[in-house]
Amino acid sequence: MSTSAPRFDLWSEEARIDPLPILARMRREAPVIRLFNPHQGAPVWFVTRYKEAVEFLRDPRFIKDKDKLSAQTRRLYFRVNELSHLDQHMINADPPAHTRLRSLVAKAFTPRRVDDLRPRITTIVNRLLDGMQDKGSVDLLEAFAMPLPVTVIAELLGIPSEDHGRFREWVNILFTPPVGGDFEPLRRMAREFQGYLQEFLARRRAHPREDLTSALIAAEEQGDQLSGAELMSMVFLLLIAGYETTAHLLGNGVWALLRHPEQKELLRTNPWLIDSAVDEMLRYRGPVKNTTTRFPLQETEFGGQLIPAQEMVVASLLSADNDAEQFPEPERFDITRTPNRHIAFGAGVHFCLGGPLAKVEAVLAIPLLLERLPQLRFAVDPATLRWRTGILLHGLEQLPVAF
Ligand code: HEM
Repeated sequence: MSTSAPRFDLWSEEARIDPLPILARMRREAPVIRLFNPHQGAPVWFVTRYKEAVEFLRDPRFIKDKDKLSAQTRRLYFRVNELSHLDQHMINADPPAHTRLRSLVAKAFTPRRVDDLRPRITTIVNRLLDGMQDKGSVDLLEAFAMPLPVTVIAELLGIPSEDHGRFREWVNILFTPPVGGDFEPLRRMAREFQGYLQEFLARRRAHPREDLTSALIAAEEQGDQLSGAELMSMVFLLLIAGYETTAHLLGNGVWALLRHPEQKELLRTNPWLIDSAVDEMLRYRGPVKNTTTRFPLQETEFGGQLIPAQEMVVASLLSADNDAEQFPEPERFDITRTPNRHIAFGAGVHFCLGGPLAKVEAVLAIPLLLERLPQLRFAVDPATLRWRTGILLHGLEQLPVAF
């Protein structure tokens, strides 16, 4: 057995501090490559160039439905059976099942519903800023970036505010790789989350309200409705997909602004640039590092490589959005960048459903943050900041700021 260090170690401390140099080497030397995920104890293929990432995400040969995989593949990649009642959602489905699930939620999760949230989002942002203002310094993730999206999505779904804190812990467990192969915290989280959602959904069925959950219960498409497990999985997906992702958009976005004071000043004096600034934040250090997983059912030629049947493949969105073939001078953080066709929200049929909501939150939150805290700055040496582990999200563990 070889003991030499892997050529591209995306799980190393070096990659945790800054994965971009390794990703740049991968794009150059091996743009479609099989690596070994030590947390999972299994191989995973990475697609790192922009052009191929988009092709891969639009390629129907790569599927998501676990039921189509062999028992052996499922055992290798999916260890936690307790999640099976929570994972019958669109991100794990292929067309036509995916189309059906997505159109049922699209009926309830309309652009109008997102637009109607603007005043409420502004109120929540101001309330969070009121709570911070006299403190002088805070962890911006804890005090601002985490509470905002969880409050918005939970209110949208009609989940009582006293329960929001529990999601923080559950979602954190879900996105943290199991330490030493111990899946027990994940199993416990799945049981607790499921128990919570079962009770919540029973209450909503008995007493519908004006919220998205009630709309989902009622949503019918060609006489079709969501089954019990599908409904529970859908609410679970909306909660987890919209929480830490949006939090790290805010965290990574503020981090980028503080590291580029001239861009921060440009935005402060030209607030109308906020839409393109948020797109640049998504491109420069998007919160979703890699897509969720896909599998070829047969041996498949892709990007000059033969990918064996039933091996996991992901696209590195962080890498694709920093590919110089697509974005001139990708390491330059430029809030006026045009064009900026980043794929931080993915591509193809699974393109993020909540992108407009995440953007509205950032577009409202960041200008207010800069306006109300004009002295906003790092409270520690930015070189000491730690990025969280895990293959899916790219976000800071803490972001201590002073103002
Ligand atoms: C900045 C914040 C966000 C980012 C960067 C993000 C990113 C993504 C990405 C990359 C995908 C595709 C994954 C893949 O193809 O494997 C996705 C899918 C999805 N996202 Fe988001 N997301 C964000 C916020 C949200 C929000 C706020 C919601 C909802 C409240 C949401 C709901 C979803 C759903 C339901 C899907 C699955 C769509 C499908 O399978 O058709 N996301 N997101």
